[in-house]
Amino acid sequence: MSATKVFGHRGWMGSFPENTLLGFKEAINAGVDGLELDVHMTKDGEIVVIHDDALDRTTDGTGLIRDLTLAEIKKYSAGINYSTFPNYDGNQWIAERVPTLQEVLEFLAPYDTELNIELKTFMYPYKGMEAKVLSVVEQYGNGRKVIYSSFHLPSILKIKALNSSAKIAWILNQCIPQPKDYLETLQLEALHLYKGVLLIHAHQYKDIVEQLRVWTANENDEIKQLLDLNVNTIITDHPEKALFFRSERNSFV
Ligand code: G3P
Ligand code: MG
Repeated sequence: MSATKVFGHRGWMGSFPENTLLGFKEAINAGVDGLELDVHMTKDGEIVVIHDDALDRTTDGTGLIRDLTLAEIKKYSAGINYSTFPNYDGNQWIAERVPTLQEVLEFLAPYDTELNIELKTFMYPYKGMEAKVLSVVEQYGNGRKVIYSSFHLPSILKIKALNSSAKIAWILNQCIPQPKDYLETLQLEALHLYKGVLLIHAHQYKDIVEQLRVWTANENDEIKQLLDLNVNTIITDHPEKALFFRSERNSFV
């Protein structure tokens, strides 16, 4: 029985600006097994790492990603909006930019961190985005373990059709009957399940806990319950907590 992995949600969004190289670096330094990030596609067809379909919440810019070129997006700070965070240090955070997927993969090259790329295709049907994401990973992934996930099932099925060895996972925020049947029929590597669903319906998922990544578990008691259930992975805004609780258990074994 292997230990539950800890993935930093949007990097380490509890403590650092989400979906930035700074957050990814800090999460790796803290010891995460993997990183989760979100991607959209720009007007000029580049894959950028950002959660929302617009710049407004996480940067000092405004406008929809699909209406902006990469050069336009790069003008804005992806760290300045987080000045209330205790770690905020001014200049370094202000200098953060919305990274491209290529930049993240290049940054990750020295590390063996797993990478979960969430395609935000349920918000807008970016034409050709799945093929573009695969091509960026093929060019810059260095053989890294990449998991492609989405709430939008057709997107991950397209990924699988384009590359049969791709690892795909369906993100769910509701309970599904006979989850094993979905895993097998859709050739899913895992389900990415909302924590509330699992914690209420744990019995329905007991046979497939090794194929469950659970998001976004941030409270101490939730993290501990998920460690008890021995799910494959906990995706959390607070990887430091999950890593601490996991190491605490290991020291008792
Ligand atoms: O991939 C799990 C989780 O990231 C899905 O929710 O909105 O944080 O991307 P969201
Ligand atoms: Mg996400």
